[in-house]
Amino acid sequence: MRAITAQLPGVPEVLVPTEVPLPTPGPGEVLVKVAAAGVNFIDTYLRSGVYRTPFPIFPGSEGAGLIEQLGDGTEEFSLGQPVAWANSLTGSYAEYALVAASQVLPLPPGLPLETAAALPLQGMTADYLTRSTYGVTRGTQAVIYAAAGGVGGLATQMALAAGARVIATVGTADKIATVEAFGVEPSDIIVLGAMSQLERQLPQAILERTNLAGADVIYDGIGQTTFRATLAALRPRGMAVLYGGASGQVEPFDPQELNAHGSLYLTRPKLGDYSRTRQELLDRAGRVLQAAVSGDLVVRIGQRFALTNAVEAHRAIESGLTQGKILLIPGATTWDTPNQ
Ligand SMILES: NC(=O)c1ccc[n+]([C@@H]2O[C@H](COP(=O)([O-])OP(=O)(O)OC[C@H]3O[C@@H](n4cnc5c(N)ncnc54)[C@H](OP(=O)(O)O)[C@@H]3O)[C@@H](O)[C@H]2O)c1
Repeated sequence: MRAITAQLPGVPEVLVPTEVPLPTPGPGEVLVKVAAAGVNFIDTYLRSGVYRTPFPIFPGSEGAGLIEQLGDGTEEFSLGQPVAWANSLTGSYAEYALVAASQVLPLPPGLPLETAAALPLQGMTADYLTRSTYGVTRGTQAVIYAAAGGVGGLATQMALAAGARVIATVGTADKIATVEAFGVEPSDIIVLGAMSQLERQLPQAILERTNLAGADVIYDGIGQTTFRATLAALRPRGMAVLYGGASGQVEPFDPQELNAHGSLYLTRPKLGDYSRTRQELLDRAGRVLQAAVSGDLVVRIGQRFALTNAVEAHRAIESGLTQGKILLIPGATTWDTPNQ
């Protein structure tokens, strides 16, 4: 089968297509024919060496497809069953992926495989951030950065559905319409690209919109460029939820700053700690996948790339210009042409 691999950490160009043996599922594993693989920031952190891992790597954590083979002890699933996953054993940027049965997410009827591939990581992350890390409720003043993006867009919809007021940021004005369509008040949308001094102007923009009180919670997946502003824009005892570093990882800092800004809470969460049991994983996935089927959650596929074009897909997500989800499609791949 064909799969994407990287021999060494580095720029997107280290991602190259290769021919590898079709994996065989061992006990407690299933082999899935990949219909679509989701592209996530964690894939770029691993590829570039920001997160240390032994090389070579076969990238891609999430995807969706049809079960092709069942390993021993996986009788709860069936051949041809549509499933998704947030973690694969062999890498999801491939024609086939091995998935541990404990990670298999059965799909509800009526959910297209591409939509399913878009949801495991970003959707379950948005779910735990808004429901469990800081459970937003009616009246919560929540700030969500990159609200036209993957996690940001889904978290915005979930927070609004829970009755929160969402103050949203977007990098550029062309993303405003996406966030307005979720139901965010136009006056609650802040365009970061218009700010020459983010550290001063972003807290000011948030404080102005909260009667100078500050936000209850700020969901910050941008990281390096926004983190100082995040601390300065919370109310006393508010919570900074630093869940990623799209602009780079946050530098070490002095915890006294939490004191100086009003006894703030800071957390740096990850999905694995919010899906610790099979039941918790299934509850989160079930909620998100079902909301996509019912239409309560709008899942936007921003861009699709042929599997051979993983380089362009990584360039796209790292550019910060995308909206919604980026997918790699093995079936769209012609192995001797670079793009679809
Ligand atoms: N902790 C977890 O469990 C977990 C799980 C999944 C994802 N994440 C994190 O969630 C964050 C968002 O991931 P995503 O997959 O949903 O991506 P995304 O939101 O679709 O893309 C990231 C967005 O960040 C903004 N951004 C600001 N500065 C940027 C820069 N220098 N480079 C790139 N983007 C920049 C851009 O939006 P604007 O132009 O609108 O500012 C961009 O669209 C990432 O930090 C990722 O690591 C965390």
